[in-house]
Amino acid sequence: MEKHRSAFLEYTRSFFSGDPEKDRYMQLKVDHTFRVCSHAAMLTAEENELRAPAVGRALSLAALYHDVGRFEQLKRWNTFSDAQSCNHGLLGASVLKKQGFLDNEDREVRHRTIAAVALHNRFALPAALRGDLLRIVAAVRDADKVDILRILAEQLGPGSAADNTMLMHLKDAPGICSPAILKALREKRVARYMDMRTLDDFRLLLCTWLFDLRFNASLRAIRENGCFISILDGFTGAPDVKAEAAAVVENRLNAPSSTLPA
Ligand SMILES: [Fe+2]
Repeated sequence: MEKHRSAFLEYTRSFFSGDPEKDRYMQLKVDHTFRVCSHAAMLTAEENELRAPAVGRALSLAALYHDVGRFEQLKRWNTFSDAQSCNHGLLGASVLKKQGFLDNEDREVRHRTIAAVALHNRFALPAALRGDLLRIVAAVRDADKVDILRILAEQLGPGSAADNTMLMHLKDAPGICSPAILKALREKRVARYMDMRTLDDFRLLLCTWLFDLRFNASLRAIRENGCFISILDGFTGAPDVKAEAAAVVENRLNAPSSTLPA
């Protein structure tokens, strides 16, 4: 993996421009990547179904390269919003092929890694996805979410200085939540980015991410890092909605995760 880490770092270094404002976001994505790698390694160690060596190899590579498309996205469009630019998962898959980062891997590992990068940011996974590829994709998505939740908890906590790019250019409109986001929370399903209008929408949407997590070790990591305490503390809307969101989080964090289809 050391060679891949060096290749990733060399590739990303080429996007640093000397403009501290832009470079800060590039660095943020590099740091995020290595934390996602650590989360993925933790999942491999703790979840039996990820232990097969071929699964572990593709998962490590997919974790390292999952956001490789972010650098081109940020350079060209200056945003992390896919809706306002491009699908960064698909862009990442094409960067992987173009750069030949996986040329020395065996065919199956290469195929699984590219598929996992392309699918890591999909709203929902294709129903036909099964077996090891499903496990790998689900694990990358879990590892990614665990770290994003921790980063965004700092941005969305009470009194934090909001970063417009990280918060997807959403309005700080205290007390206003979109009905579609609330509906998703009440129906215990993942809410859509396109329905978000305000920072409180983002806080509620993050609560619904818990329904997409597949591994118990991910739920445990989230319980331990306490990110939802901060996210919910920052909520500015009605106290009953806040209590409802807190109950959803509490229930989900304390219930065992759903198991994957074989
Ligand atoms: Fe991503």
